[in-house]
Amino acid sequence: MKKILIPLLLSVLPLLGWSAGPSIDLDKIRTDVTDTASLQRGVQIYMNYCMGCHSLEYGRYNRVARDLKIPEDVFAENLIFTDTAIGSLMTNAMSRQDGSDWFGIAPPDLTLVNRVRGSDWLYTYMRGFYQDDSRPFGVNNVAFENVGMPHALLELQGLCAEPPTPITDRRFDPLTGRLITEGGCSSYAIEGSMSTAEFDEAMYDLVNFLDYMGEPIQKERERIGWMVLAFLTVFLVIGQLLYRELWKDIH
Ligand code: HEC
Repeated sequence: MKKILIPLLLSVLPLLGWSAGPSIDLDKIRTDVTDTASLQRGVQIYMNYCMGCHSLEYGRYNRVARDLKIPEDVFAENLIFTDTAIGSLMTNAMSRQDGSDWFGIAPPDLTLVNRVRGSDWLYTYMRGFYQDDSRPFGVNNVAFENVGMPHALLELQGLCAEPPTPITDRRFDPLTGRLITEGGCSSYAIEGSMSTAEFDEAMYDLVNFLDYMGEPIQKERERIGWMVLAFLTVFLVIGQLLYRELWKDIH
């Protein structure tokens, strides 16, 4: 009995991990790493607004350029703002020491952040900054209490005056397919250059890009998976026929 009980107890242990999850309602996102246009817009936002603080040091520029179908010279000219070679790892010039001196905590590398935090969390976090004058940068975040990051996208989103609420009812315009549900932020302390819907779409692209970054091979992996399944199916038929043929004289 003991022999069964211990493995049984160990097998339900991971369930306890659930209680450590976020206690807020996260906005839902369904990423699509096959949407190359979205990934191209995402990398553009990332290189312009995030790369200065957050490296992607497990990735290489030329790999991203190839996967996202951006010619290397176009990528180097428009998205790399230093004289780094296109074959380099995607590091930045900020040392961990400088990072922690400036922000209290060094901005982490974000190559794997989507795999650690999940897309829903990232999407909520990126849209979750709001005004809080008690904080050093004047902002707080609904998904990350007392966050040490300034609101890097303030000029695009504006500054939400109240903590944005989760969007539960998301609707798309049937004609254009664009997101029409207003929600999240009810009033802005500072207006941004994008509308709420435009910013939501931009964050969709950014999270999509970080999803791709966390596992650049995922499109390829799925393709190979289908090929393996197809091969096994064909092989099953051949194997079955072979089996019948070989055993026919024995029975
Ligand atoms: C001025 C520097 C700076 C810029 C620009 C910046 N961040 Fe940050 N970011 C930080 C710092 C500092 C932290 C650490 C916050 C903490 O732990 O309290 C952080 C934390 C994060 C985290 C949480 C990581 C984790 O799992 O704890 C994410 C996600 C993130 N940033 C995404 C972004 C994205 C995406 C952009 C670009 C739109 C961006 N950041 C731009 C400084 C920056």
